[in-house]
Amino acid sequence: MPTASALHFVGEATWAALSGKPVHTDVWSDITEVPHVRIGREADLVVVAPATADLLARAATGQADDLLTNVLLTARCPVVMAPAMHTEMYEHPATQANIATLSERGVHVVPPASGRLTGRDSGPGRLPEPEELFEVCRRELARGSGTPSAAAPRGPLAGRRVVVTAGGTREPLDPVRFLGNRSSGKQGYALARTAAERGAEVVLVSAAGLEAPAGVRVVPVETALEMEAAVRAELADADVVVMAAAVADFRPATYTEHKIKKTHAVGADGAPDESVPAVPLVRNPDILAGLVAARAGASSPVVVGFAAETGDASGSVLEHGRAKLARKSCDVLVVNEVGADVTFGKDENTVHVLRRGTDAVLDVGPASKDVVAGAVWDVVTDLL
Ligand code: C5P
Repeated sequence: MPTASALHFVGEATWAALSGKPVHTDVWSDITEVPHVRIGREADLVVVAPATADLLARAATGQADDLLTNVLLTARCPVVMAPAMHTEMYEHPATQANIATLSERGVHVVPPASGRLTGRDSGPGRLPEPEELFEVCRRELARGSGTPSAAAPRGPLAGRRVVVTAGGTREPLDPVRFLGNRSSGKQGYALARTAAERGAEVVLVSAAGLEAPAGVRVVPVETALEMEAAVRAELADADVVVMAAAVADFRPATYTEHKIKKTHAVGADGAPDESVPAVPLVRNPDILAGLVAARAGASSPVVVGFAAETGDASGSVLEHGRAKLARKSCDVLVVNEVGADVTFGKDENTVHVLRRGTDAVLDVGPASKDVVAGAVWDVVTDLL
C-alpha cells in the first residue's frame, strides 16, 4: 500500500504488475467495500518499510489522509515501522518525539542501520536489510497482538508438544579440548522457531549457543550423553521428537582432568617423552534408535531423524538415505547433502524428505532453513 510519495520512487504499474493486485493510495477507490476499514481489521501484521519522517509524523498525530494512515488507525494487530531518511531528519527532535510516541503506543520501531544514504552522505538512517526486517516481523507475528485471545496458541500444531534437538555435540577430551563437528544448529533452531509459530509447545535441546527463538524453551547441553538424558527427561507427553542434532557417534574413552601436555611425561632418564598420545574412543548411545525402540510399536511420539550424507561409490545421497530410514525405523527422515562447503553453517539447505512405508520423496530447496523446517512440519502435521 504505497503512499502517493512512494509512487515517485516505484511507480503504480510496477507494483501492480509484480503483485498482481490493484494499487491504491487513497480511500476513494472501491468505496462500497470500505477497504480502509477492512484491510486494517483483517491484517495480521502491518509493516511500514521504509517509514519516512512524514509518515511517522502523520501516524504519531493520528492523521487519516490516505489509505495507509487509515489502515494504521483501524489495525489492531502488531505494527512494525522501519524509519529511513537522512541522518539530520532522523535525529531531529520532532522525528524522535514521533518515534517515542509510536513506541509508547506499542508500535515496534526498528532502529535504522548506519551507512550510505540516498545522496553522498552516510550515517544512521539507512533502511535495515530485508532479512533483518523479516526477522523482526516473524517475531512480532509469533508474539501476537498481546490481547488474551491472540495469546492462546493458534496454528496447525496448537496443543502439540514437540522436542527438537539442535547443534553438534562436543565430546570433551580434557578441560580445553573436545571432539566436535561442523553442525551450526541453524536447521534445528529453524525447526523449533517454526513449530512455535505454528502453535506448538516447543522444547529445544541444544548443543549450539544460538539466540533462543521466541516462545521456545531451550535446554542447553554439551555432550551426547547429556543430550540423551535431556531428551528422555522431556519426552513425557511429547507428540513429536525431531533429532536435528549432529550427535557424535564416539566420545573419548576417558576424560583427563588436567590439560594433556604436548610433552606429557618425563622418562626415567630425565628426557621428555615426545610420544603422541592415542585417544581411544567409545561408542555413544544412538538417541534416535533408543526413542524408536522405547515406543515399541506405538505410533507416538512421531520420530523425525536427519541424515547428513555425502554420495560415494557405494550409492547416492538418496540411496544412503533410504537405507538409513530402513535401519533407523523412524517415521520421517530428512536427508541432506553435506560437505565442508554445503549446508553446515549456511542459511540455506537442500533436502529430500522420506517417509517410512512409502517410496515418495519430497524434494525441498535450495531454500532457507525456515522453508525446509516448514516443509518438515507439513509432513509431520499430516502424520499427526
Ligand atoms: O546414523 P546417523 O548418525 O547418520 O543418523 C543421524 C540421525 O540419528 C540424526 O537424526 C541424529 O540426530 C541421530 N543420532 C542420534 N544419536 C547418535 C547419532 C545420531 O540420535 N548417537
